[in-house]
Amino acid sequence: MFSKVVIMGLGYIGLPTAALIAKSGIKVIGVDVNADVVETVNRGDIHIKEPDLKGLVKYVVENGNLVAKKEPEEADVFIIAVPTPFKDGYKPDLSYVIKATEMIIPYLREVNLVIIESTSPVGTTERISELIFKKRPELEGKIFIAYCPERVLPGKILYELENNDRVIGGIDEKSTEKAVEFYSRFVKGGLHRTNAKTAEMCKLVENAYRDVNIAFANEISMICDKAGIDVRELIELANKHPRVNILQPGVGVGGHCIAVDPWFIISEFEEDSRLMRTAREVNMEKMEWVIEKIEESIREFRERYNKEPVVACLGLTYKPDVDDLRESPALKVVRALISKGYNIMPVDPNVESVDGLKLNDFDFAIRKADIVNVLVGHRKFLNIISIGKEKFNVFC
Ligand SMILES: NC(=O)c1ccc[n+]([C@@H]2O[C@H](COP(=O)([O-])OP(=O)(O)OC[C@H]3O[C@@H](n4cnc5c(N)ncnc54)[C@H](O)[C@@H]3O)[C@@H](O)[C@H]2O)c1
Repeated sequence: MFSKVVIMGLGYIGLPTAALIAKSGIKVIGVDVNADVVETVNRGDIHIKEPDLKGLVKYVVENGNLVAKKEPEEADVFIIAVPTPFKDGYKPDLSYVIKATEMIIPYLREVNLVIIESTSPVGTTERISELIFKKRPELEGKIFIAYCPERVLPGKILYELENNDRVIGGIDEKSTEKAVEFYSRFVKGGLHRTNAKTAEMCKLVENAYRDVNIAFANEISMICDKAGIDVRELIELANKHPRVNILQPGVGVGGHCIAVDPWFIISEFEEDSRLMRTAREVNMEKMEWVIEKIEESIREFRERYNKEPVVACLGLTYKPDVDDLRESPALKVVRALISKGYNIMPVDPNVESVDGLKLNDFDFAIRKADIVNVLVGHRKFLNIISIGKEKFNVFC
């Protein structure tokens, strides 16, 4: 019944999902429009950084269960795991999902199961169903279509893909049941049935919840700075309350989930999402605040020593211990400071290269810098965070 699966998109979500399904014995065709990705995967290699993924991909490619291609083909299940960024005005950009759907439409047959995993605005699954049935009206009522969002943590993707609970919502009950049957083949976590709209909103709300909570910590950090209070000590003390759990402040919010998904709600329910909009604004303002704070240290240094300081910025990724730079506030801070003409030394041991930036060795930068700013709490930086010397600004 589920002997062959096509996965559209071999990125952070699609590739681990493809590998996990292939490990369960199902034949998987991983499709990506990027020829380099296809070639890399077919070599048994990976193009993203994720613990244990390389070994698993190598294993399933060598045993023939995972093959990467540039075009889809006939299968029993089609999974769409392509990007869903936003475009101008923070409006969701569904063009990748639509394109991937158009690519699979010619290969759909009766009793196929189509699953959207891409984070999507409410109503997307219905819209995609309409698109399919417009082009293939004979399939209406004869295929199954469901939405099943992903909620994995980069760095722990393989574990969480298998063990997290999943929310599964079909366009009708038969579709939900079919999708639950499919995921039960390789997911050990609970599989929770609902309709497509609720599953779509569930994913968006989960990330908006995280965004609002991070905004609270970021807002407190800016208030504490004005009040002359150590925000870390404050949060530690407040969290001694049995029902309080304040998160840690940072440079802002990045990644292409938490910084993006709340807009999928805000843009559609503009008047009713005031808290979510404010949280987004606070988290974006935090980045500007960090830039202003670093500039303040630079001004103080110039006044004191009458020379231009060398400024190290540690961490460029959107969160600790990953290589992912998407929507990274730390990277935006560094680019903004460089464009203002300051002498900035960017450092990130997790990142090999960044367009237009000259990356520096960690030890060299620490020795050379007059001011050190810790923007991302990578494990490698933890010791210097605890030293907390005068010239260290810790923003995470
Ligand atoms: N990365 C995460 O941690 C995470 C977590 C939960 C949900 N999501 C959601 O999952 C979806 C995928 O995210 P990702 O991080 O894997 O993205 P990604 O950018 O890492 O990978 C997407 C891949 O899709 C390919 N692609 C684009 N158009 C295509 C098409 N028409 N056909 C085939 N391949 C195509 C791209 O070349 C790319 O390799 C997004 O909607 C995202 O919001 C991501």
